[in-house]
Amino acid sequence: MRKSLFLGDANALVIAQARLRELLSIVHDEFALGGSHGLKGIYAFLDIFGAEQKSASDYRELRAAHVRRIYLGLESGNAEVFRLLNKPGSPAACIEAVRAIKAGGINVGIIILAGAGGTRLAQQHVSHSLAALASMNLGPGDIVYISPLIVPPDGSYAQQLHEAASRPLHVVRQLEQLKAGAKAVCAPGSKVALYHIEEFIY
Ligand SMILES: C[S@@+](CC[C@H](N)C(=O)[O-])C[C@H]1O[C@@H](n2cnc3c(N)ncnc32)[C@H](O)[C@@H]1O
Repeated sequence: MRKSLFLGDANALVIAQARLRELLSIVHDEFALGGSHGLKGIYAFLDIFGAEQKSASDYRELRAAHVRRIYLGLESGNAEVFRLLNKPGSPAACIEAVRAIKAGGINVGIIILAGAGGTRLAQQHVSHSLAALASMNLGPGDIVYISPLIVPPDGSYAQQLHEAASRPLHVVRQLEQLKAGAKAVCAPGSKVALYHIEEFIY
């Protein structure tokens, strides 16, 4: 029933373009991509720091190799919330990366974390995330995913949140704000969906 191919890694496209070219060519030898009965496209994750290493022409080449959507974890459009997540890159770098990817003709899937930053940063998390999405000019074929934050019991996030004078947030209300706001700032033809991280933990 599947009509697409997902490259199974959380940052699959980060590898150097020359190596990626070789690997995609093996994929093409194995699967009839683009043919009338074959798979319709390739989908993959890319970290923001990996995306920064590629140019619009690299993305055009990936588009020609049938890469159709790249998923990026923006997590938050607010720089302070983003830093709390200990993630390389920044919201500004993610926006740049999305522009290059879209200039290369590839759609994006952007993930926002509902609940990130806790109570003190809630308002700016929502407003800056929606502003970041608005600046990405998302349209047909693009997807915004909202992922309700699950705080790992053994991680450092809870302590960092405490040090940032914030407290965990009950995500339901923020989830609705982000969903409604994302629908309002994205052009018709784009989708807003829930992302369930539990489904990806093995
Ligand atoms: C496979 S992961 C990582 C993708 C990619 N490596 C990146 O960081 O951009 C995909 C998404 O899961 C979400 N995620 C990761 N940890 C989470 C957690 N503890 N609770 C909820 N969502 C989470 C994040 O939104 C992340 O972008």
